[in-house]
Amino acid sequence: MEPQTSQTITVTVNGETYEREVEARRLLIHFIRDDLDLTGSHVGCDTGNCGACSVIYNGQLVKSCMLLAVQADGARIETVEGLAPEDGKLHALQQSFSDHHALQCGYCTPGMLMSAKALLDANPSASEEEIRKGLQGNICRCTGYWNIIDAVKAVAR
Ligand code: FES
Ligand code: FES
Repeated sequence: MEPQTSQTITVTVNGETYEREVEARRLLIHFIRDDLDLTGSHVGCDTGNCGACSVIYNGQLVKSCMLLAVQADGARIETVEGLAPEDGKLHALQQSFSDHHALQCGYCTPGMLMSAKALLDANPSASEEEIRKGLQGNICRCTGYWNIIDAVKAVAR
């Protein structure tokens, strides 16, 4: 029997349900970016180190380059595109990143935002130490991290 090389999966992303046929070897980040055209999540390393591809997967923060798309069959995923409550409005974290100059090139920003959201969803009153720990899987080569920490602190209650 031939090995199965593709599979039809159903995934809900930012409240919208998609059914797609995917190759068994396709990474979740490539599925999100290239198949669904949701290019807010970035690819920085493909090896689980940088956090630029971070999304929320069934309520848990994951690095989407570390999962296969077929593993996400039936999953509920949140990406940075789903953060803002409506067109023309920013999520509190997005506004705070802007207010605190917490980005420069912006490459890490979608992953930082999703990591910060996952952290504050689980722990709305996170301390500075908890914020630092919560963001330790995300690399920023520009900001030196201080303003990112300040931005998340300002949203934590
Ligand atoms: S692209 Fe996934 S951790 Fe870097
Ligand atoms: S703002 Fe450039 S990598 Fe973080």
